[in-house]
Amino acid sequence: MKNLKNLRGTIDLPPEKLIKWQNVEEIIKQQLLRASVKEIRTPIIEMTELFVRGIGESTDVVNKEMYTFTDRGNRSCTLRPEGTASVARAIINDGNLKNSPQKLWYMGPMFRYERPQAGRQRQFHQLGVEFIGYESPISDVKIISLAWDILQRLGVIELNLEINSLGDKSDRESFRKSFIKWLENNFESLDKDSQSRIYKNPLRILDTKNSQTQEVLENAPKLNNYLSEKSVQRYSIIKKQLQDLQIPYTENPKLVRGLDYYSHTAFEITSSALGSQATVCGGGRYDDLIDQMGGSRTPSIGFAIGLERLILIAGKDLERARNTDIYIVNKGDLAESLALELSRKLGAFDLVTELDLSGASFSKQFKKANKFNSKSVVVIGDKEAMKKEFSIRLFIEDQDNNDEQTILLEDNVKLKEWICRNLKSTI
Ligand code: HAM
Repeated sequence: MKNLKNLRGTIDLPPEKLIKWQNVEEIIKQQLLRASVKEIRTPIIEMTELFVRGIGESTDVVNKEMYTFTDRGNRSCTLRPEGTASVARAIINDGNLKNSPQKLWYMGPMFRYERPQAGRQRQFHQLGVEFIGYESPISDVKIISLAWDILQRLGVIELNLEINSLGDKSDRESFRKSFIKWLENNFESLDKDSQSRIYKNPLRILDTKNSQTQEVLENAPKLNNYLSEKSVQRYSIIKKQLQDLQIPYTENPKLVRGLDYYSHTAFEITSSALGSQATVCGGGRYDDLIDQMGGSRTPSIGFAIGLERLILIAGKDLERARNTDIYIVNKGDLAESLALELSRKLGAFDLVTELDLSGASFSKQFKKANKFNSKSVVVIGDKEAMKKEFSIRLFIEDQDNNDEQTILLEDNVKLKEWICRNLKSTI
């Protein structure tokens, strides 16, 4: 029979690869807890309309990349391509969430039908953070610094932060008018893709990858010349505060991002340690999204970090698994029962324990304990089991004092003392 393969653009993560994922996820969660950001979980599957309205009809994500299908009830459903629209929907629907500002995070799989390559998959994972109901420039700086600090804490090097201001709706509208006029006059010099975007999504033409169009655009009207005084001032405060925090940035007036909901601040963090898919984090302000979707006016800002890309460039030290603390060697029927009981008891401690389930000879089990690099070993044979006791000792080869003790199963005090002395566990 032919082997069944993964769908293109999806991968399995076996335990040894997951070690780094788990370490990264744990550190991220700690950072977010410390920053008083709370977790929200939304469905992976949503009504298609949510993304069409939220992300924008003319975006690549909605037009070309969504996994959309009709379910048995004849509804059009889509696997989420990102998390912001779902969070906005949850805010609108949840009476408890909508009445006060919320700092929220989510982590999980997203789906986009893109051409897979290193750092780009069809099922990928994002950490998203959304500050809902925050309008002041300081919230923009807090969001950017949070993303920056998470990446730094995870040992990502060669970071580069790019920022831009897209102004508010009326700034963009006046730019749009002049820009479309200019594009019409220069239609023949544009690449096909840009030509097709003139009326649908002209802003996206600004970040075209086509070098000839890029050259032509040098003479086009510039979005930053169309920002109102208020928008310019807002942007200046953000730049000043970033400088005060010593977070280096470059301004990129062409940075418009691929989703339609952004206004004012847009930003991306890239790392040259990544290949062509260099953007590890993207985000920005979306002041109009929630009211456009039927809620009340709720200015907000957020970002998402692509976890696959992050894992590729996070520090090597995060690849190490936690060592086994106690390996339980056991042989014989009585010994097995006692070993099972002891391993349940050890489950209450903050320890990594490994119960040998092989029934193999003592020497084979010791070899396994060695392979696991276990810090200590418990030995139970039927002789010990008959007395309801076990022996425990440090398992560091060539060590003179291995603090070997025989302990009765019911003697919790002695067991705790031994663990505290040797494994420094917090009990
Ligand atoms: P985005 O720029 O579309 O923004 O995605 C954010 C990050 O997700 C990217 O920078 C990248 O690291 C990762 N990513 C995107 N597509 C793929 C893929 N096919 N394979 C691997 N990684 C990928 C958003 O999704 C917005 N919701 C971010 C946001 C939150 N803005 C405000 N709040």
